[in-house]
Amino acid sequence: MAFFGKLGDRVVGAPSILSADFAHLADEVERARRGGAELVHFDVMDNHFVPNLTVGPAVAASLVEATELPVDAHLQVENPDSLIPAFIEAGVASISVQVEAATHLHRTLKLIKSGGCEAGVALNPTTPPELLGWALPYLDYVLVMSVNPGFGGQRFIPEMVQKVRRIREMAPVPVEVDGGITAETAPLMVKAGAQVLVAGSAVYRGDPAAEMRRIIEAGRAARGR
Ligand code: DX5
Ligand code: ZN
Repeated sequence: MAFFGKLGDRVVGAPSILSADFAHLADEVERARRGGAELVHFDVMDNHFVPNLTVGPAVAASLVEATELPVDAHLQVENPDSLIPAFIEAGVASISVQVEAATHLHRTLKLIKSGGCEAGVALNPTTPPELLGWALPYLDYVLVMSVNPGFGGQRFIPEMVQKVRRIREMAPVPVEVDGGITAETAPLMVKAGAQVLVAGSAVYRGDPAAEMRRIIEAGRAARGR
């Protein structure tokens, strides 16, 4: 079941469903899988924490049934605790919460892990990584947002490279990066220590298999393997 726990030092790609055709979600994920994707990034938005509104546990449960890939839920919602049990029930492999929306982060992370899921914390672009300090023992991964959450297709914020580097100096926790990731920006993030490359618009704007492969290969080449 563990994805992040078994990552070792590998660099992997994950399509974000936000830019996929929601009427053909399983096919869209399969296209990215053929390009080497090893995880599905499932963006949950509530029209409160972020202005956008997407999908919830029912769609996650259907997708879990329809794909061999582990599903990684990124909760961009207020009061994430009230949704976590439903995502656990849906069978997702990992759940991240935005630290800005978590009032009792220790309880939230324990709740995720009590359901057998890996637990992650996502940081908005101006949220300092030092905020993670006391949560590190309970984290399976950190999600660095390299755009403001809410929409696909935004411009990569370059200072987030330094944030990834800082987190990796703090602890050997796997770092997932999300927002503006392309074959051009992935190498910068990988060199700083990122290992999970989430990409939405860069994957689905063209042939998803080819675009996913290009991003993964660019990331791996940056590390010389
Ligand atoms: C934004 C989401 C991202 C989004 C990224 O709030 O968390 O996962 O899909 O989209 P791109 O890759 O287009 O920046
Ligand atoms: Zn996301």
